[in-house]
Amino acid sequence: RPRVLSGIQPTADSFHFGNYLGALRQWVTMQDEFEPFFFIADQHAITVEQDPKQLRDRCLRAAAQLIAAGVDPEKSAIFMQSHVPAHAQLGWVLQCLTGFGEARRMTQFKDKSAKQGEGAASVGLFTYPVLMAADILLYRPQYVPVGEDQRQHLELTRDLAQRFNHRYKKTFRLPEPFITKETAKITDLQEPTAKMSKSASSPAGIIDLLDEPSVSAKKIRSAVTDSGSEVRFDADEKPGVSNLLTIYSTITDTPVAALEEQYAGKGYGDFKKDLAEAVVEFVTPFRNRTLELLEDRDRLNDVIAAGAAKASAVAERTLADVYDRVGFVPPV
Ligand code: TYM
Repeated sequence: RPRVLSGIQPTADSFHFGNYLGALRQWVTMQDEFEPFFFIADQHAITVEQDPKQLRDRCLRAAAQLIAAGVDPEKSAIFMQSHVPAHAQLGWVLQCLTGFGEARRMTQFKDKSAKQGEGAASVGLFTYPVLMAADILLYRPQYVPVGEDQRQHLELTRDLAQRFNHRYKKTFRLPEPFITKETAKITDLQEPTAKMSKSASSPAGIIDLLDEPSVSAKKIRSAVTDSGSEVRFDADEKPGVSNLLTIYSTITDTPVAALEEQYAGKGYGDFKKDLAEAVVEFVTPFRNRTLELLEDRDRLNDVIAAGAAKASAVAERTLADVYDRVGFVPPV
């Protein structure tokens, strides 16, 4: 079976609807057809200042949330990036193939470093996309299910794979981004043209999966729409309503057209009220499952240990090929 791989950063106490709809949902549906590898990018999380105790806590919460979302540890390798040292090791080799200017063109680095000033950003933040390329290439996956914001990183990954294959010997498979058009960019509820984002959104703009369901319902009811009254999908003219339609459609498995019909002649109030209820229905069991999983730390630790073992077996084989091809003397 071809492989599928993706990762997520443990940079908040909870994943949000963008993470879930843009990425995790696809992880869940793809795990049957592909050989799945999903990891928590703890090494990426330290590219910005963080608190150690909080990070440890968030990593376990992340693992619990993946399982609660439907990533099945019986099928998928679920692991911590730092438990598979080959990621950092291949990362170094790929850094030596990456042009300085090439790394500098990454828009996510530009955005994130602009906030603190480029001089204050860590070198880790700068080389982050190269580590991400290593994360991916080690597993030679066919698909990498992500949201739109990761597309440029996937392009860099493909460029680096090609460069390595060309300079040395064919080693890497060129991975394809798997970006689901409808949910590629879930937007901020208060600023519906901006991405819903852990780092940039205001609390009212973001729906966390682990929020009190009543809080999420309230956020939906106060989401920014427009001065019209028609519930219709039009991303340019009606970004707020369109975003809500996307969320509604995916969590209830109802086509957008059916929702448009259902709310024809009704106002935004009814629409938001029903969506708020659907959100509560969706997040309540998710939240309960996550909290339950967090009660059993031993089980979580077993899951990530088994995941790391599965992942290491694959990753170390690729790394050995890479070390051989660049000309390192094998240790004896
Ligand atoms: P991260 O942790 O920021 O986000 C995890 C996943 O959620 C997607 N996503 C969204 N999708 C739609 N709408 C949104 N508003 C939204 N916000 C986030 C992201 O696109 C991502 O798929 N660099 C990655 C983590 C990573 C990774 C990897 C991913 C590290 N190594 C290797 C794939 C393969 C990141 O920061 O995602």
